[in-house]
Amino acid sequence: MRDAETAAPLIPSRPSIPKLRSAAAGCTACDLYKLGTQTVFGEGRQSSTIMLIGEQPGDREDLAGRPFVGPAGGLLDKALDEAGIDRSRVYVTNVVKHFKWEPRGKRRIHKKPNAVEIRACRPWLDAEIRVVRPRAIICLGSTAAQAVIGPRFRVSLQRGHFVKSELAPLVTATVHPSSVLRAPSDEARRAETLRFIADLKRIREAIESAG
Ligand code: URA
Repeated sequence: MRDAETAAPLIPSRPSIPKLRSAAAGCTACDLYKLGTQTVFGEGRQSSTIMLIGEQPGDREDLAGRPFVGPAGGLLDKALDEAGIDRSRVYVTNVVKHFKWEPRGKRRIHKKPNAVEIRACRPWLDAEIRVVRPRAIICLGSTAAQAVIGPRFRVSLQRGHFVKSELAPLVTATVHPSSVLRAPSDEARRAETLRFIADLKRIREAIESAG
């Protein structure tokens, strides 16, 4: 793994989401481009008021080239709908834009991105935030929360808490929908889904009352 290299030199001088997406398609700032099928850039209107940030694309996203189109994305769509958040006002992206995986039999198993990969990819996320200028950023899961909010943020203890940040007026985190899907029983999954929806609903209410 090459060290200390980031995507910064690839950021176009007057970026827009389409320009960023096309520049990111050729990103080789870390070695993950060798593993993934393609760069999976963020998606949504440039005028979105909410930005959701996940960890990295999964198997289905890697093949489709779009974020959150697999099982976690299905749950996310449902939870947003139940929480009254209009999906068309949401920009969805990831901290790392290539799928990191290891083989297990015929399957490609998700592997957590490391600090070098997260740092290498960071200029893309920062550019997305600068271009979209969301009113609220919601990190999904601890990898995104720790990368965006800070390493001391604990999703299990602080989910739904708003933190002071230069990135957006409202910044918070909740669990990753994949963790909800991994709940050990149907009952636990139902309960975790309801908590996830409740978090999103409270966040929506806070955004609305902040005007
Ligand atoms: N998990 C993520 O964090 N991002 C995706 O795009 C899909 C699954």
